[in-house]
Amino acid sequence: MSKKSILSLMRPTGKLHLGHYLGVLTNWVKLQDDETFNCFYGIADWHALTTKFDETDSLKQNTKDVLLDWLATGIDPDKSTIYLQSLIPETAKLHIYLSMITPMNWAERDPTLKDMVKIMKEKGNGEETFSYGLIGYPILMSADILTFNAEYVPVGIDQVAHIEITRDIARRFNNIYKTDLLIEPKPKLTEIPLLKGLDGNKMGKSFHNDIKISDTEEVTAKKIMTAITDRSRLRKTDLGHPDECEVVFPYWKIFGSSEEIKEIEDNCKKGLIGCADCKRKLACKLNQKMAPIREKRKYYENNPDKLKEILIEGSNKARIKAKEVLDKVEEKVMVFR
Ligand code: TRP
Ligand code: SF4
Repeated sequence: MSKKSILSLMRPTGKLHLGHYLGVLTNWVKLQDDETFNCFYGIADWHALTTKFDETDSLKQNTKDVLLDWLATGIDPDKSTIYLQSLIPETAKLHIYLSMITPMNWAERDPTLKDMVKIMKEKGNGEETFSYGLIGYPILMSADILTFNAEYVPVGIDQVAHIEITRDIARRFNNIYKTDLLIEPKPKLTEIPLLKGLDGNKMGKSFHNDIKISDTEEVTAKKIMTAITDRSRLRKTDLGHPDECEVVFPYWKIFGSSEEIKEIEDNCKKGLIGCADCKRKLACKLNQKMAPIREKRKYYENNPDKLKEILIEGSNKARIKAKEVLDKVEEKVMVFR
């Protein structure tokens, strides 16, 4: 039986945080270790250009940072095909063919795209920043998926609308060109154990409440010291309420062993441990967990040639499959060859 293809991409927006690690990357690693799947993981640098076309000074570094974080957290080039979107010209070609058959209003009604535009407007972006390329965001994403004829796309709930459009486009292509070539992909929703940011809101880069995978031990410890605890607790001897401890106790539940969690819970309730102490302990715990990951990241940071080689080789490997699909697409569309 041939393996099912799994594909997902991430826009290179810079260094990734623990929310990405726990919510996305651990799942990707699990999927790559499942023998029944063939995994493609891509860095969507073209998608970054749909909104940041004028901020490209950091694009290369952001691409490297994403790759470093992936490798550090266990995405393995021997198991998964790791590639860079802009190194797959087949995707650009497929994007053109799909653009021709996609009704304009399918793109315009895409709720995720609408949200992006709304947020950009709120930030004061003028009309000229909403490009033709941005309208094509979901079609480019469809091209990403359909170039590899991926069966499953692991994404968060916010991306599901895009996958729906991809299914519609695949079906329309098959209808128009009387074929069953393109597979309708299914979203693979990840049960994300929501990791709060240090201030209790959702962890996000733009909220300045995140801990990066690449943060040093000192920075991690400093950040943890600012995390919200039980707001009603003022002194160490006040009895604490772990259930109402907004960030620190939930972190313990994620990073601690069951004995550690129990101990913190008991000592907090009895007023035997102060919040500052509790956070110092948590920082140690977290740093201990992150140490091997950060070490691996350092290794690739110090071996940039190796890093580049992984991305180029992965992209070359990805192109073999991409070319297979594109050849068939061009045969169906009957362009001159
Ligand atoms: N739009 C996705 C995001 O912002 C990134 C992406 C681009 C993607 N192409 C894709 C995800 C294809 C899944 C499949 O997260
Ligand atoms: Fe939270 Fe720890 Fe303070 Fe208890 S002691 S309220 S668990 S930070």
